[in-house]
Amino acid sequence: MPNYPKGQRKRISPRKIQVKSKKIQDPNSFVLRMLINAAPYYVSGSVLAEKLNMSRVGVWSRIDKLRKAGLTIEAAQNLGYRLAGEPNEFNLPLINAWMKENRKSCKIFAYDQIDSTNSEVERLLANNEKSPLAVLANQQLKGRGRLGRTWHSPKGGNLYLSFGFRPNVQAIRIRNFTLWQGIHICKFLCDYIGTDKIKVKWPNDLYYKEKKLAGMLAEASIDCERIKTLIFGLGLNVNIPTKRFPTSLSKGSVSLQNIAGGQIRLHELSSKIIKIVLQSFERSIDGSVQNELFEEWKDVDALYGKSIQIKTGKESLVGKSSGIDAEGNLQLKLRNGRIKNIHSGEITIL
Ligand code: BTN
Repeated sequence: MPNYPKGQRKRISPRKIQVKSKKIQDPNSFVLRMLINAAPYYVSGSVLAEKLNMSRVGVWSRIDKLRKAGLTIEAAQNLGYRLAGEPNEFNLPLINAWMKENRKSCKIFAYDQIDSTNSEVERLLANNEKSPLAVLANQQLKGRGRLGRTWHSPKGGNLYLSFGFRPNVQAIRIRNFTLWQGIHICKFLCDYIGTDKIKVKWPNDLYYKEKKLAGMLAEASIDCERIKTLIFGLGLNVNIPTKRFPTSLSKGSVSLQNIAGGQIRLHELSSKIIKIVLQSFERSIDGSVQNELFEEWKDVDALYGKSIQIKTGKESLVGKSSGIDAEGNLQLKLRNGRIKNIHSGEITIL
């Protein structure tokens, strides 16, 4: 499991972490942030003791608590403590510590097992929980996909993440919400993994070289033309090698671990995706993103110039994919040269 390489001790500048009030509000989160900042290096016990204004025994007992909460923290004499790796199951203190590092946050609910993170967001919003909020789970028992499908959601290091928003804007403002989020999640993943081969397959899939890496599912409730609640779910294959998926899925799927050739730090990755989605949401409701979306789509379009088949409710069409129009509809160039606007459908690359 350890996925931080071995490191020596590194001096942590006392100014690196800003302490707003004299009393540190949450010492566990503070210790974790120091360890995250230093990883893979060690942080001296006396630096921690000084910053927390407690004895070294007090620091040791904090570290012990964090270990009991599932974190692998190594101790070495004369070196101090270091975070040796990130668990493949969600650890709330660690994800919250990462969120503080990223300086963009919302309340996060983490579950070991849930029916569907989208369903849980729906329940939380119905219970008047403050928005935005995010729900994470190690495993989904009834993970939902598009068009009534199920989303295979085993335990072991994949990401099942949903957000709840109350946008209160005209429905038209967020008609391309999934495309917009897809662009930004895709660009972030390319940077994070160091590839330019992750693309968005219109309208809601992320692909890597013709294999599915992730799916997005947006569900909205509308009242008098205004979006009351918006739920956005992301299922991303992270640390489970897809050869362990059922045979019907394994051939056509890929995980970040497959692409990167090694374990991904699930908490770091998830916290950064949460930040991206929150930022992209804010941009999308301010209503100024339409031109940007159209331009940025060209960089991530998995289908451009490809021969595809689209199955809509009643018909099956074949043609060449030619990007999207200003409304986010897929442009299908038919054999007779005519362009057909596609609002929804199931696409197969031929
Ligand atoms: C698709 O490709 O059909 C969309 C899949 C979306 C799956 C995610 S996993 C997190 C969230 N919870 C769900 O039940 N579904 C979405």
